[in-house]
Amino acid sequence: MKDKAIRDELKKRRAAALAGGGEKRLKAQRAKGKLSARERVALLLDDGSFEEFDMFVEHQSHEFDMEGTAIPGDGVITGWGTVNGRPVYLFAKDFTVFGGSLSRTHAAKITKVQDMALRVGAPIVGLFDAGGARIQEGVEALGGYGEVFLRNVLASGVIPQISVIMGPCAGGDVYSPAMTDFIFMARGTSTMFVTGPNVVKTVMNEDISAEQLGGASVHMKKSGVADGAYDNDAEALQEIRRLLDFLPASNREKPPRRESHDDPNRDAPALEKLVPANPNTPYDIKRAILALVDEEDFFEIQRDFAKNIVIGFARMDGATVGIVANQPLILAGVLDSDASRKAARFVRFCDCFDIPILTLVDVPGFLPGQAQEEGGIIKHGAKLLFAYAEATAPKITFITRKAYGGAYDVMASKHIRGDLNYAWPSAEIAVMGAKGAAEILHRDEIGNPDKIAKRAEAYEARFLNPFVAAERGYIDDIIAPKETRRRVIRGLAMLKAKQMTNPKKKHDNIPL
Ligand code: HXC
Repeated sequence: MKDKAIRDELKKRRAAALAGGGEKRLKAQRAKGKLSARERVALLLDDGSFEEFDMFVEHQSHEFDMEGTAIPGDGVITGWGTVNGRPVYLFAKDFTVFGGSLSRTHAAKITKVQDMALRVGAPIVGLFDAGGARIQEGVEALGGYGEVFLRNVLASGVIPQISVIMGPCAGGDVYSPAMTDFIFMARGTSTMFVTGPNVVKTVMNEDISAEQLGGASVHMKKSGVADGAYDNDAEALQEIRRLLDFLPASNREKPPRRESHDDPNRDAPALEKLVPANPNTPYDIKRAILALVDEEDFFEIQRDFAKNIVIGFARMDGATVGIVANQPLILAGVLDSDASRKAARFVRFCDCFDIPILTLVDVPGFLPGQAQEEGGIIKHGAKLLFAYAEATAPKITFITRKAYGGAYDVMASKHIRGDLNYAWPSAEIAVMGAKGAAEILHRDEIGNPDKIAKRAEAYEARFLNPFVAAERGYIDDIIAPKETRRRVIRGLAMLKAKQMTNPKKKHDNIPL
């Protein structure tokens, strides 16, 4: 081919790739309130930073009338660019091309960027809007997904992997995200399910809408599969950029620091009056978080699931921290199965990347009862205990009020290698609350409320304070709440060069 002919052909192929599944399908995409795959890529990355790979890759399928149907790019846009100047790999599925479904060649495009991200040590973001394995390719598509899944697993804990669900996703397009670190959804336009409503009707004879089966509300509030949901594609992508700013590029790097304009030595006076005098009166731990962190900037994860525990990223004097905090506003901040699972996974993410973990403790214990026992609270609670205990990242803990029972041990206590453990004067560190303790120790007096009240008072005076633990060195100091920010920042600076390793092993066996 002559040079001119090649250039003309290149133009033609490029135009075909840019057109994706064509005007009609693109119109349908927009009518559903979704952006095109290319618009999404442009919004995620810094202006002009995208370098695309494999624009000319086409499927090699000849069966099921697939001859002559190839579209350059084959339904996925892949490459790399920057987010606020830092390299990020990505793939964005194009629903207008075979519903974004995965063929063998489509899979090869994804595994190419997965391999490069791992080699280079940069995060990878997947933008999903796709119906799973390409049906016409059968086992070749399944094999392609297997290759993607394998790389999800190998990259886990080495580079951050983020999935954004931006359309109807099924099969491999939910299982691959499930193996990444975070899943975000666009409200109203995205769904996630193993199989869609049609198959549910055939197999289970159940009538259910896509939204009821796997909409953002289901995965934010009930299943806990999603880590965040946003009103539209643009907002979701903007938030992913914000999240990436908190994260290290890989486990070979320290978490990034950003210049902070928030005084590291300032008091946080709002904390002085935060904890009510009555230990049974709730308060909002998010107010404490906002008062502590730089510029009140808190990226909350799983906001609507297991709200009795709060998790998310923030910065202290410019350095990323992961925050785990019991929330006394919901179920008195108790640890149940969902809260334990939620926090355990977050603690493990932070530890993979050596992100320091700041824990705020106000917990009356594990939630008792038949429903929790039948749901496996023993194993789920153990997940959080296990995650905190194995974590070697810096751990700084503040007991703001209750630290009762096993939950005291679990929440990054000194006994499981908390580096710095502080208590506020309002801290109550004990096996249980005073009334419960009095009723167990003096069962024969239960019929006499005055006697029980007196016993409870005595228990309260002896145990429900920070001194018993402080006398034993289980907490390092009792501090004024307003000093908390300064103490965290000083602690993080002191722990910067912390070195700790666990015994050599192939891997541990966390109670799954
Ligand atoms: C090939 C597909 C496809 C697929 C959709 N399309 N899914 N083509 N393989 N898996 C095509 C459609 O033929 C259609 O093509 C276009 O994409 C849009 O699809 P619609 O059905 O019109 O869109 P919508 O009504 O919005 O429904 C989207 C959907 C639905 C919910 C994703 O298409 C669906 O249920 N698809 C099948 C999902 C599935 O079961 N996949 C296999 C999973 S198994 P035209 O030409 O009309 O535009 C799997 C194995 C992995 O992934 C292993 C897991 C462990």
